[in-house]
Amino acid sequence: MSTQTFRALLVENVHPDADAALTGYGPVEITRASGSPDPQALKAALKGQSVLGIRSRTHIDAAILDAAPDLLAVGCFCIGTNQVDLAEAARRGVPVFNAPFANTRSVAELTLASIIMLMRRVPEKMFAIHEGGWLKSADGCNEVRKKKLGIVGYGNIGTQLSVLASALGMHVYFYDIEPKLAHGNARPMESLEALLAECDVVTLHVPSSTQTRNMMNRERIRAMKPGSFLINQARGDLVDIEALASALDDGHIAGAAVDVFPVEPSSKDNRFDSPLQRFRNVILTPHIGGSTLEAQAAIGQDSAIKLAKYLYLGSTGHAVNFPQVEPGPVRPGCTRVAVPHVNAPGFLRRLNDAAERAGANVAAQFLQTDAEIGYALADLEGALPADFLDRINALDGTIRARILPSPG
Ligand code: NAI
Repeated sequence: MSTQTFRALLVENVHPDADAALTGYGPVEITRASGSPDPQALKAALKGQSVLGIRSRTHIDAAILDAAPDLLAVGCFCIGTNQVDLAEAARRGVPVFNAPFANTRSVAELTLASIIMLMRRVPEKMFAIHEGGWLKSADGCNEVRKKKLGIVGYGNIGTQLSVLASALGMHVYFYDIEPKLAHGNARPMESLEALLAECDVVTLHVPSSTQTRNMMNRERIRAMKPGSFLINQARGDLVDIEALASALDDGHIAGAAVDVFPVEPSSKDNRFDSPLQRFRNVILTPHIGGSTLEAQAAIGQDSAIKLAKYLYLGSTGHAVNFPQVEPGPVRPGCTRVAVPHVNAPGFLRRLNDAAERAGANVAAQFLQTDAEIGYALADLEGALPADFLDRINALDGTIRARILPSPG
C-alpha cells in the first residue's frame, strides 16, 4: 500500500531548482519537457503521472483532467492560475498550487530603483544623452533621503519596500484597508487622500479588485501633491492612464514609472502603444516587476515544495482551489489516508465508521471544507485490511481516496 512511485511531468522549462524541492520529502521520478505540449500530446504524456508542473502557456481543462486519472496535483510554476480550470480540478480532487509571493523582493527592488531614478530625473537626462544632449543641471534633482514615500497596499511587496526605503532614510507612509503592523518608523495613514496629499512619491501595491480598479482616477491624481511622482508596478487597471497623461502634461505630476498597463501585448511580436510613451519623464517597463532569475528560482522551489508536501504529507496549504489542511508528519505507527470528498453532511461519520470496521483507531484527524469540496485526512493506528482503500473509495461522497507513503 505504501510502495507508490510518484511521477512528475514538468513542462515549459520549469526552473531546475524545482527538482531538489520536489524530491525533498521522498522520491519523485521527474520527466521534463521544454515547451508547452499541445492537448493531444499532453494527454498522452500525463499517463501515469502523479504531478503536472506547468507555467502560463499550458492550459488545463476538463478534457485534459479526464485523460489523466493518475494525476494527483497540478503545480503552476508562476503567479497566475487562469490557465487551469480550477473548479474542474477541484471537482476531480486535484489541488492546484502556485507561487504568488516568490517575486516579492524583485518588485520591491524595481520600485526602489524607480524612486531614485525619478527623483534624480534620470529618464529625461538619459533620453537626451542618447540623442547627443548633455543635461547636467541639478534643477529638480533630489536625494531620496528624508523624502516622503507613500505606499498604497502594505502587503508582501509594500512592507518589503517599506523596509528598504526606510534604510535609505526615506519617511515612509502607508495606506491599507486592513490594519497592518508598521515596519520600523513607517506611519499608517487614515485615508488614501491623506497619503496622496502628504507624499513626494506614491507607489501602488494593491491587487486588482472591484475596489481598486481605477483607484487612481482623475480626482485622486489631482489630489496628489503638486510635483510628486506616481509609480504603478502592481496592476494595469489601477490608474486612469489618460488622467495621468493630462497631469504629466501640465506638470502636476513630475514623473511616473509604469510597469503594468490596461492592455498589454500578448507577445513580443505585438506592438505596444500607450499615451505615456510621449513623456520623457516617465519610465515604462514591459511588466517585468517580478522578472528576475532569482524570482524564477524561488518560484521553482516554492511551487515544488507545496507539491512535495501534498504527495508525502497530504498538505493542501496554499492550494488555490481546495480546502486547506496543513498537517505535520504522520503520527508514528500510523497510516495517513487523504480523502477529497463532496461536501455534504455525514461524510466524516462514514469515514470514521469505515475506520472502526477495519479495526483502526483514528489517532489524528484533519478536515476543511469549502462550498463544494471537503478534504479529510486521518492518521489511522493498526494494520489496515488490504481492501481498505477500495472501501473508502466506495463511500458515498468520496471523490478519490489516497493512502500516503509510510514515513521512511
Ligand atoms: P499582497 O496581497 O501581499 O498585498 C496587497 C495589499 O493591498 C494587502 O495588504 C491588502 O490589504 C491591500 N489592499 C487591498 N485592497 C486595498 C485597497 N483598496 N486600498 C488599500 N490597500 C488595499 O500583494 P503583493 O504580493 O504585495 O502584490 C501587490 C501587487 O503587486 C498585486 O497587484 C500584484 O499583482 C502585483 N505584482 C506585480 C508584479 C509585476 O510583475 N509588476 C509581480 C508581482 C506582483
